[in-house]
Parts: sequence; C-alpha cells; structure tokens
Amino acid sequence: MAGPDLVRELSLREKVSLTSGATAWTTRSLRGVPSVVLSDGPHGLRRPAEGADEFGMSGSRPATCFPPAVALGSSWDPDLVRRVGSALGAEARAAGVGVVLGPGINLKRSPLCGRNFEYLSEDPLITGVLGSALVAGIQSQGVGASVKHFAANNAEHERFRSSSELAPRPLRELYLRAFHRIVTEQQPWTVMAAYNKINGVYATEHPWLLTALLRGEWGFTGLVVSDWGAVDDPVSAIGAGLDLIMPSTGGRSDAVIIDAVERGALVEAAVDRAAGRVLELADRAAAGAAGPAPRFDRDRHHALAREAAGKSIVLLRNVDGILPLDPAGSESIAVIGELAREPRFQGAGSSMINPTRLDRALGEIVGYAGEDRVAFAQGYRTGPDSDGDLEPLRDEATTLAARSDVVIIFLGLPAADESEGFDRQHLELPAEQTTLLDAVLAVNSQVIVVLSNGGVVRVSGWQHLVPGLVEGWLLGQAGGAALADVLFGAVNPSGRLAETIPFKLSDTPAYLDLPGQFGKINYSEGIFVGYRYFDARDLPVSFPFGHGLSYTTFEYSDADATQQNGDGLRLRVRITNTGRRSGREVVQVYAGLPGSRVSRPTRQLIGFTIVELAAGESRQVELIIPRSELAYYHPTQSRWLVEGGRYRVEVGSSSRDIRRMIMVEVTGDDEVTRLTPASSLAEVMAVPAARNALRDLLAHHPMAAMVDDPATMAMIGSMPIRRLASFPGSEITDGQLTELLSRLPRL
Ligand code: GLC
Repeated sequence: MAGPDLVRELSLREKVSLTSGATAWTTRSLRGVPSVVLSDGPHGLRRPAEGADEFGMSGSRPATCFPPAVALGSSWDPDLVRRVGSALGAEARAAGVGVVLGPGINLKRSPLCGRNFEYLSEDPLITGVLGSALVAGIQSQGVGASVKHFAANNAEHERFRSSSELAPRPLRELYLRAFHRIVTEQQPWTVMAAYNKINGVYATEHPWLLTALLRGEWGFTGLVVSDWGAVDDPVSAIGAGLDLIMPSTGGRSDAVIIDAVERGALVEAAVDRAAGRVLELADRAAAGAAGPAPRFDRDRHHALAREAAGKSIVLLRNVDGILPLDPAGSESIAVIGELAREPRFQGAGSSMINPTRLDRALGEIVGYAGEDRVAFAQGYRTGPDSDGDLEPLRDEATTLAARSDVVIIFLGLPAADESEGFDRQHLELPAEQTTLLDAVLAVNSQVIVVLSNGGVVRVSGWQHLVPGLVEGWLLGQAGGAALADVLFGAVNPSGRLAETIPFKLSDTPAYLDLPGQFGKINYSEGIFVGYRYFDARDLPVSFPFGHGLSYTTFEYSDADATQQNGDGLRLRVRITNTGRRSGREVVQVYAGLPGSRVSRPTRQLIGFTIVELAAGESRQVELIIPRSELAYYHPTQSRWLVEGGRYRVEVGSSSRDIRRMIMVEVTGDDEVTRLTPASSLAEVMAVPAARNALRDLLAHHPMAAMVDDPATMAMIGSMPIRRLASFPGSEITDGQLTELLSRLPRL
C-alpha cells in the first residue's frame, strides 16, 4: 500500500513516530512497512562494522573508496562520475542500504572550508553536472541518493548554528544552482537539509527553502531528511516541510510534535505529509531492493577507482617535459616523503570509509621503474608522532636527492589540518615539508612535486622552482597506482582544476568574511565566488580555474557560436591533437556580457565537454548551451532574466587560456519594468511610452528641459518621480502622476 493510503489508517502517534529515525541509520518499520537504511557517504559506503559504535566512527565494513569529490570534480567527466555512482549504488544495494547520503554539492566558497574535499567545485555548473551524474548512477541501482547539504553550507566553523547571510542573486545563481539542476534532472529520492541557518532561519525549519522553493518552484517530490542532529525545533521543522528527523530522537521529538498537534500549534496535515513521504521512501527502497541483490566485483570496482583517480589528477607544471618518466629508462629515481608510502586518500569525518584495499605510490613507482632505479627516503612524519627531531630524516632525503637523477617528492596536508567539523586556518603546507623541499632543490633541480591534499594549498613560494608539479588531491584507495600511471605516462593526465589555486589566502573572495562573527557569516563577495572574483579583480593566481596540462597539445580552430532561435547557443569548434600521443581535452566555454546593465562576472562557465583524440586527429566539437545558462536572477522582480546584447563567448583550455572568442547577439527577455511612483526619473525615461508621457506631463514644468539634459539627469535621474509633485512651482499633483503611471506598460 502506497504511503498516502496507509497514512489514513494510522493513529497520530504512529504517524509522528515515522517522522524521526528508529536508530542512527534507519527509519521506523510500521504495519509491515520495512525500515530504510540510510548510509554515508559520497565516495564509498560507510556502514558501521559489526560491533562498532552506532555511528560507525570506530570502523565500517570494507567498501571501495572511490576518489572523493575534490578529485572527481577535477575530472570534469560526467560519464565517469555516473559510473562511479553506479558502482557506489551497487555496493549499497548489496549491503542492504536504501539511501546513500551523498553527493555533497556545496560550493567551495573559501579554500579554508575543512570539508572541501567532499565537494566538487567553486563553480555551480560543474557541481550541478557532476552531482547530477553521481545521483543518476546511484539511483540507477535502485538505491536513493541524498543531495546535501541544502543549502549554503560552505563552512564548518559553527556549522550547527551559524547563519549564512547572502543576497538573492548569489543564493540563486550560485549556492542553489546545483541543487536545482539535480532536483529537476534526477528527482533524487532525498534532499538533506543542512545544519546552518540561511539569513537567520535554520535550513531544517525554512518554509521557503523546503516547501515554496524546493517543492513549489522546483517540483521536488522526494523526502527531505535533516542532517544528523540538525533539527532545533521539531515542530517548526515538520511545519516547514522537513519530513524525517535524523537520527532517532528517542521519542523526544514525537512527544513535542504530538503535543503541538493536540494544542493546534501544528496542523495534523503536516504530520500526514511527512509520514506519507517516509512511507513512500520505504516503498521505493523496497522496490529498489526487490530481486537478487547484485554481487559486486571488488577488483572491478578497484579498477574503476583507479581509472577515476587517473582522470582526476591535474598536471600543473611540466617544464622541459620532465614528465612522463620513462619506465624503461635508466635515470635513478629518489622517491621522498612519507605520503608516498602512507598515502592520505580520503578526508576525515562522516565520509571516511574502510577501503577494500590500498595502493601505495612508492610500490607502484617501483612496479614501473624497477627496484634498482628507485630509492626511498621518508623525509618527514605525518602520523601523530610527527614532531621530534626531523633533521636526520631531512639529511637522509637530501643525501638521496643529491645522488639521484630525478626526485619525486610527495607533499601534502596531514589529516589533522582538514576535516569535516572545522575549517582550516591557513593554506600552508607543513613547514617541515617546505623546508625539506628547499633542501632537496638545493641539491637537485630535477624535482617533481606530487601534492596530496583535500583543500588547495599555497604553492606560490616554490612553484616556479620545480619543473614538475602534480595536483593529486585525495584520490581514494587506488590513487597510488593512478599517480604512478600518470607519472610514467600509462595515463595521459586530463584533470582540470575545478577550483582556483590562489597566490595567497588574503587574495581569496571570502577572506574578510571568515570565520564569521556573532553567529553569522556574510557572503560579501556576492556573485563573485572563485574565478569570478579573481577575474573581476584581475588578480594573478598560481593556477587558474580550468587549468591542467596534458602530455600532448591541442589546437582550437574554426570556432563559431550562434543563437539558436531563442533556445540558447550552439557552439562549434575544431580541436586538433597536435602532439605525439593520444589525449583528452576538456573544452571549456565561458560567456560574459560587456556593458551589462547588471553586475556580472567577466566570464562564467556555461558549458564544457571532453574530447578524446589520437595524435594528429582533428574533430569538430559541438555544444548546445541552454539559454538558462546566460540568465541572471532579478532580485526585485524575483525571476530569471536573459539580458539582450552582444555576449562574448570564449572557448579555451582554462578560464585564463582562452583560445577562441566569438561575439554573439542574444535576444533578451522583455524586462518590462513595473513603474510606480517610486520609480526613478531615469527608469521612467528608459521606457519609450513612459518617456513621452512624462514629457507631456512636464510640458509647463520648471524642470521640463531636464529630462533631456544628460548632465542634469546624471545628477537627479535617480529621483523617485513622486517627488516631482513636491517641487516648488510644480503644477504636478500625485493624482496626475498616478494617472500617468496607469497609462504605462506593466510587468
Ligand atoms: C554528518 C554530515 C552529513 C552526514 C551525516 C551522517 O554530520 O554533515 O554529511 O551524511 O552527518 O553521518
């Protein structure tokens, strides 16, 4: 029996009991309706191991640890991400899980966010497209996803009660954008409401967010679940449109909700609605779990994790072709750094899982080059005992570097520096690691740095000194092998930065807003998040959004862009692989509108695609870009609008490596301005019908000539026209103005 039908037969107590968890990870079973198991996380299944603590923080059952979002985001590859989602969904299905608590799709507003390793990008388009792909993959296995954390959860500091203070345009154009795409494209089974407040109202108790917007405007039909422990007032939450309070509240939320209904403080229909959605979720999970549970092949999933990691690695620098190394070569190779032997492959917190196996870069490098060519030095410590005298380790590493032909040095953030639950204080690598790098560079210039980090680190102090620089992020259980695949050329790197690597922290958009104060975090940069900010301020960066090198080269030619009968843009460009080996190019399309009437980024990503080409191969690439990608959100008219004008469409290999630029005339939406007595003189004069009517009205007025005098209008053009009636010598009355406005075009 479907949810709503059964709800009618339930008592109030039974219905209310459905609105919170039965345990940390399950919904209540009732009248033969089975409970649903919800389980983290976005890059691998975290089901508490037998005998582990209820929240599973002390250990979870082995599962494939795929690359966390920070890496997958750098793949720019929705097909790959969808396959990862399918594998994750298959493992969830096999483990009896009904809902996977992911993807995390909050924007990377600041590189200081401790949880950036779990998020995809600073850009809403990449976040939406890849997040949608992951949801599609998970749900293709008959398992639900939980798109999180809805919304504007962009910092960990004070996350349980801080209010994200942001205006309608950044909220809509950036922080809600990916949620909107995923909800409308995939109808995720659940959306997870975040801990934080938005403009003073808890996300879990936000009627506009959870009902008017999510359901009324976007048409979401699934279930809204709270983040774990995110509900402050259960009555307010259920009334706002939350359906499931997690984890179990031990009956406490039941009592207050029943009392509120009995007092008339909460309509029972709200409880019916929430209970019905929990039952519907149970129906969906039961249907999804019907039939034989698929057995998944751990080795195949590991191979997929390796492929995904290899396509997520970003080659930042490759001077004089120091990379790839030759597996059959004779150079002696020094591998330096504990991270080569004991990799960090995922972030800490609720997404941390127990991998089915773990590849280590050191062993994989030896596998390619042979033991006689490779020597290792620890260089530094990463574990809890990372203090102590590091001099001997540094000396050993420097000595090894001095007698080696090439050095691969692994640097990165220790687990203690970044995690769910707290934010970072800086962008620096540990001092002992940069000191080690200096010492190695002093004795050998052929140095390749491999970074291992969940959030970007500052590299501006030394990036120019190293001929090879690889951003390895956190790559999951197969990352060590994937790094060796790239270092020795078995895989041609195609990762592109999905977030900017800034020169320094104080250049970043949110620098002055964080960590927030008095319970609020201001989003003062507005729509200028990430590269939008660095471009608007023309700031140099270490490596720009979209950057990533290949072992081959690509040429862009024959680009054209045309408006498609009001439906959007069609862009065509020819890509030629001008190098000596096959490779994947991420073709990126940006748009800007010079002279726009509203503030806008210089450029914003409006489309991208991956093209794989053999050496010498050339192919025309076509992208159809929906008109909605050009729209901005009008905060006073509360609607999306496409402004007419000549758009600058740029095609390139990164946001700052533009290869072709085309100007395209785009027809705008009718921006009929609703004119009122509060409208300014300039606004009235901008509407032809109004302009003539105003001139007639002012015919004998002392200010008659002003409306056609640019200098005067520059001074008083912003005056509300109702003030004209109050001018000395004015024969204009309020009635005349109102009559004038009544004849003018309306919205
Ligand atoms: C955590 C996280 C959320 C996770 C949930 C369950 O606090 O914010 O992402 O899914 O609780 O572990």
